[in-house]
Amino acid sequence: MKCKICKDKAEIYLRSYNLALCREDFIHFFERKVKRSIEQWKMFTRKEKILVAVSGGKDSLGLLHLLGKLGYDVTGYYINLGIDGYSDVSQNKVKEFSRSSGIMILIEDVRVSWGTGIGDLAKKVRRPPCSLCGMVKRYLMNRAAVEFDAMATGHNQDDETATLLGNLLRWDKGYLARQSPVLKEKRGLKKRVKPLSFITERESAAYALMEGIDYIMEECPLAKGATSLFYKGILNQLEEKMPGTKSRFLKGFLEYQRNHPLIEEEEELVACKRCGSLTTSEVCNFCRLEDKIKS
Ligand code: AMP
Ligand code: FES
Ligand code: ZN
Repeated sequence: MKCKICKDKAEIYLRSYNLALCREDFIHFFERKVKRSIEQWKMFTRKEKILVAVSGGKDSLGLLHLLGKLGYDVTGYYINLGIDGYSDVSQNKVKEFSRSSGIMILIEDVRVSWGTGIGDLAKKVRRPPCSLCGMVKRYLMNRAAVEFDAMATGHNQDDETATLLGNLLRWDKGYLARQSPVLKEKRGLKKRVKPLSFITERESAAYALMEGIDYIMEECPLAKGATSLFYKGILNQLEEKMPGTKSRFLKGFLEYQRNHPLIEEEEELVACKRCGSLTTSEVCNFCRLEDKIKS
């Protein structure tokens, strides 16, 4: 197969676009697509300082690489969650990326303050590891983002459609109202952006590979059996039968949401007695967890 643009040998075929591209033209296509999302959704400008949360995976490292390449003011942020056989490997990928790219990455390790990793902790407090991990990551990311204008994550279109499906199946109006490639700065939280919202998992993996980014390929061992993976599987089956389904599903929702915004019911927030972050109870979930660890 030949590249549609330069007629060289194609390296990738994108079925939903009916488009074959060589390495160079795919990279160009990919970067233009992300740049367009950033501009169309008014995510950020070159004057703003962006903190990019990186997990060591293809999406977030690819995003950090791309934003650096496009000349944005970026810093990485990595949280080591102390997951056996996984966190240290991903931290090494992150460190190596920082060394070779020259982009600074801040690193935080939960074991330093808690003496144990998230898996152990989840057993102790009897909570599913993924939900505890999500809460901890959100808290630490928001805290780290204080010094920046925006926080970017590597969520891709597959992540976003799986989340959308889950939110719709539960008719979770609060989450649906907040599902967007960009969330403005609000109530003590910095602006949050997802520049890869319209990039498929496959495109993201191809980009990282073609740009020579060394990333962790394994999934988190604690995420085995997670509902989000099940939703992704179902959406992949739909996509197989009807190419373009995922993109239409997400874009259709965002378009509808833009014209008929779901109004988020705003709970009353108070400052957490321990850390000052805004929360619905006297002491925030994160500080309550720390209290439990100490006792
Ligand atoms: P996940 O929830 O694992 O699908 O990750 C979604 C996004 O959250 C990633 O693309 C990263 O931007 C960010 N992220 C996930 N894990 C970490 C981590 N350990 N440290 C910093 N950011 C992370
Ligand atoms: Fe959080 Fe796996 S990365 S549970
Ligand atoms: Zn708190």
